[in-house]
Amino acid sequence: SYPSRVKLVDVGPRDGLQNEKQTVPAAVKIELVHRLQAAGLREIEVTSFVSPKWVPQMADNAEVMAGIARQPGVRYSVLTPNLRGFEAAVASRPDEIVVFGAASEAFSQRNINCSIAESIERFAPVVEAARAAGIHVRGAMSCTVGCPYEGEIDPSRVGYLAGLMKGIGVQHVGVADTIGVGTPLKVQRALEATLAHFELDDVSGHFHDTYGQALANTLASLELGVWQFDTSVAGLGGCPYAKGATGNVATEDVVYMLQGMGIDTGIELDALIDAGQYISDFLGRPTQSRVAKALLAK
Ligand code: HMG
Ligand code: MG
Repeated sequence: SYPSRVKLVDVGPRDGLQNEKQTVPAAVKIELVHRLQAAGLREIEVTSFVSPKWVPQMADNAEVMAGIARQPGVRYSVLTPNLRGFEAAVASRPDEIVVFGAASEAFSQRNINCSIAESIERFAPVVEAARAAGIHVRGAMSCTVGCPYEGEIDPSRVGYLAGLMKGIGVQHVGVADTIGVGTPLKVQRALEATLAHFELDDVSGHFHDTYGQALANTLASLELGVWQFDTSVAGLGGCPYAKGATGNVATEDVVYMLQGMGIDTGIELDALIDAGQYISDFLGRPTQSRVAKALLAK
């Protein structure tokens, strides 16, 4: 049987916009966050405190965090790759920070400029400081089924990374298919390798939809009892260090699927579609959500 309730974390403002070529003003990002929370999202990944030379689009991180009218019951998370990023992030009062590593060595090097082992050394003091400050710590694990540089990734490597994350005190991990190459059984193997180290309630799925597999991979995750997913409104996004990778599965499409299965998300589809339309209009391109397209054409 499937979980009766699912939590979706909209990562659109961060994962969705980080790779955007045109400048998205802080005011637009803030309005997007406001529309997402109005639609019922209870967790929003807002921005990242990374090097502005590496990811210029996230350089307004503090301004965006400061501009959000926080709604009680909504949690706001941010990415922090190192202590420098963590210290900057803390000033903006996030509810959760995200350290991000990879199951593949090559991706770790390209994305955060260090090996997997070095990344864990960098994350350890961040995790310690966050937990001492009462801030929840999530770990994102990239390339858990495939890597743009190394190809297919064996589940044992996912388990290895999950074990390292657990060892430094990370409280929750997201199993990411960064380039969207995964298919349901491979995703289940990656999740199972992770579940050897983390409780079911502390594992989420993060599926990019490059090959159109993300909804199937979400369903395959639900079959294992995984009930938390990162999704992106309007299917925004991609990773700057994973060429050709498209956005996360659209939040609208996941909400529609779950509603049809009688699974509660607390999200109101019409308001969510409005949020997706808002950002798609700003970017000047159609939404990537099939559900939004279908409902808007009615
Ligand atoms: P580095 O060059 O190895 O670090 O980068 P460094 O410590 O040598 O610092 C280099 C410069 O960056 C210095 O400035 C630092 O001050 C500055 P300079 O002296 O040259 O003027 N710096 C910073 N500035 C602001 N905030 C910081 C920070 N740290 C250093 N926190 C670093 C290492 C990790 C910083 C770099 O590689 C980086 O910023 N990478 C960002 C990668 C990124 O954001 N990728 C996208 C997010 S991950 C993702 O999308 C995947 C995910 O969605 C899951 C999935 O789908 O797989 C989560
Ligand atoms: Mg991602």
